[in-house]
Amino acid sequence: MRFLFIGDVVSKIGRQMIFDNLEKIKDKYNIDFVIANGENAAHGRGISVNTYNSLINMGVDAITLGNHFNSCNQSNNFYVNATKLIRPLNIHPSATGLGTRVFDFNNISFRITNILGRVFINALNPQNPFDVLDELLTKCEEKIHIIDFHGEATGEKMAFAWNFDGKVSAVLGTHTHVQTMDNRILPNGTAYISDVGMTGPYDGIIGAKKEEIIFKTRTGLPAKFDVEMGRGQLNAVVLEIDDKTGKALSIKRIYISPDYSEGI
Ligand SMILES: [Fe+2]
Ligand SMILES: [Fe+2]
Repeated sequence: MRFLFIGDVVSKIGRQMIFDNLEKIKDKYNIDFVIANGENAAHGRGISVNTYNSLINMGVDAITLGNHFNSCNQSNNFYVNATKLIRPLNIHPSATGLGTRVFDFNNISFRITNILGRVFINALNPQNPFDVLDELLTKCEEKIHIIDFHGEATGEKMAFAWNFDGKVSAVLGTHTHVQTMDNRILPNGTAYISDVGMTGPYDGIIGAKKEEIIFKTRTGLPAKFDVEMGRGQLNAVVLEIDDKTGKALSIKRIYISPDYSEGI
């Protein structure tokens, strides 16, 4: 089975990049199921009912989140009713929504889980991601299990992936908004990439307006962040996973930008 996983979708520019490219990518790679990280879909912060619906209408089949899972203050009802939405699993149990979901395609059941890293991420006070996934795996029956590991530090992501090599189909890093080229299959069949990257404004700094990020980084003073406008980029990976064993067969990067593209 072939999955497309799209890195953090930022604002209407990211949504437009999906609109412009998704059908072409699906055709080229015979994609069966599309996952996107949507934590920045609503103007860079969180996901709203409208942005959720627009991604689903464009052909995204499941949407993972991250530290911005509720940054635009949607109602609890949204998280209960949005059956294709997966928020981080390892946050306080009183949060609404689900951190892991089972989907079906052609009589194949598979699981998608969103997990938050703890290194350099202090929002949401995440529980130990290793312990939380260990516990989840005692209850899972699906062969195919894709993890969106939303974290800042590559070392934490790698430690997590190597620890669960052979126990899940893929550990795909998100959150940094910069695609890494370390995509590989670990020895026991788990596909890995430190970060899938970002689908949104190409000319900003990880999606935000340059001037504001430079001011905050240079001075340490508070600054309001707004999303950059203008040209777009799309970052994703294509996963091929053996239905019978749940082992990954390949992981390929897609990178589309005004200056350089590959995988398309
Ligand atoms: Fe993000
Ligand atoms: Fe994030």
